[in-house]
Amino acid sequence: MRQTTSIGALALLGLARSVATQTATTPYTDPLTGIDFQAYADPDTGYTFGIALPETVTTDFIGQIIAPLTDGAGWAGVSLGGPMVGPLLLVTWPNEGEALYSFRQATEYANPPVYAGDVAVSLVTIPDGTFVNDTHISLTFLCEGCVDADLSFAPDTASSVAGFAVSDSPPEDPADEATALVFHSYGYGQFGVILANATSAEYDTWAAMATGGSSAPTSSAAAPSTSTSAR
Ligand code: HEM
Ligand SMILES: *[C@@H]1O[C@H](CO)[C@@H](O)[C@H](O)[C@H]1NC(C)=O
Ligand SMILES: *[C@@H]1O[C@H](CO)[C@@H](O)[C@H](O)[C@H]1NC(C)=O
Repeated sequence: MRQTTSIGALALLGLARSVATQTATTPYTDPLTGIDFQAYADPDTGYTFGIALPETVTTDFIGQIIAPLTDGAGWAGVSLGGPMVGPLLLVTWPNEGEALYSFRQATEYANPPVYAGDVAVSLVTIPDGTFVNDTHISLTFLCEGCVDADLSFAPDTASSVAGFAVSDSPPEDPADEATALVFHSYGYGQFGVILANATSAEYDTWAAMATGGSSAPTSSAAAPSTSTSAR
């Protein structure tokens, strides 16, 4: 069930009480792109998810996934609504030095198929923040159509919940956008997203940096996978 109030969303995760470890996003400026994100860094895995929003939220956001690789492989993803089953999932993994990505949606706790829902979503990468290096994968992107009450969060929401998952095993066929994934044994969990503090007057400038490869603006399983160069 979606939580639409700030208190409700955070209380759901027990975030309203003070805890020793960070369980919600805080301000983070990405040094490579200059984008001001609200970002969550998982202390156990080193996984980071960041989000930036325009002052008036409609359908799009800027996001960033940075995750550790294991021997140069693995995959990492975000659940834009919190739990694994239901919300829009975005997964990224390295393939021959490039960051591929794929929208997924799960109906059960099993390998999630490529997203094939009614809402048209698409992704355009921001090249300066999208790369694979010896230890990490980084995907920085404009997510178009991704703000949705059912798939992620409603545009007027002050806070929401997102989920993360990291696998130390590569997808079965890393060259294939629709490849089967392997369980996220490296780590997974949920965190609060302070959407009200993710907005910026500079959003349009940052969104204009999204010039990398784009997936088709469709939910089709035939949508081409996309990649950007290693750096
Ligand atoms: C082969 C692929 C996958 C399998 C077999 C799988 C399986 C599971 C299982 C069994 C759980 C429950 C674990 C527990 O409660 O102890 C879980 C939780 C979770 N998974 Fe996955 N998963 C897969 C892919 C993904 C992907 C691609 C994402 C996100 C992009 C994801 C995100 C999550 C999240 C956020 C949780 C914790 C919240 C929840 O329980 O709903 N999973 N997964
Ligand atoms: C790889 O990228 C990550 C994320 O930006 C960074 O923390 C790390 O220092 C980079 N490693 C190398 C060897 O450049
Ligand atoms: C949002 O930002 C304001 C101003 O920096 C800060 O006082 C407030 O604590 C932040 N809200 C949350 C929930 O972190």
